[in-house]
Amino acid sequence: MSTLLEPSANSATGVCSNSQPLSLSGLVKILESQTTSPSLAQLYNWLENTRISADELRPYLGFKEGTYWRHAVCRNESVEMLVLCWRPGQRTVIHDHNGSQGAVLVQQGVMWETTFTYDEARGLAYNSACGYEAGQITGADVPDIHQLGNPDVSERDLVTIHIYSPPLGVLHTYKPGSALVDIYTPVDPD
Ligand SMILES: [Fe+2]
Repeated sequence: MSTLLEPSANSATGVCSNSQPLSLSGLVKILESQTTSPSLAQLYNWLENTRISADELRPYLGFKEGTYWRHAVCRNESVEMLVLCWRPGQRTVIHDHNGSQGAVLVQQGVMWETTFTYDEARGLAYNSACGYEAGQITGADVPDIHQLGNPDVSERDLVTIHIYSPPLGVLHTYKPGSALVDIYTPVDPD
């Protein structure tokens, strides 16, 4: 189930709540130095302590009319970071992260997250829905099943920052009212 965590300090990573916020390049430097997959609490801590300027974000901005657009920022064997750009009404399929943990920061706009439960006998079942505004963070533990999107009534673009630990591989996808589980591999366009 997705969780909102309180701000926390972690001096072992060089980041703490009272220190200067990280820039995007500062966060990338920390992520690229990771040699083991960081915990979900650590992903939250980094995102809570990061402030991304418009100049730093610009290379990762780009929207498509058909579906949301994934822009890769950095990736190694332990962790990856992406910027996702969403027009109103664009959303993911219902999916889990197949063993990866993920944290999402809303950079601008409004994001909806719907969560689900699943068992083989009953199939997929709705669990909860929540909205997140700029500066808010949500995350997916294992084995969370969820759907993210920009509400069609938001009337504005959505930009979100995602960190996954370990990096995403093949994901499971689900359909409402069905016990069928499919697979899906996200593709970075660039
Ligand atoms: Fe997800």
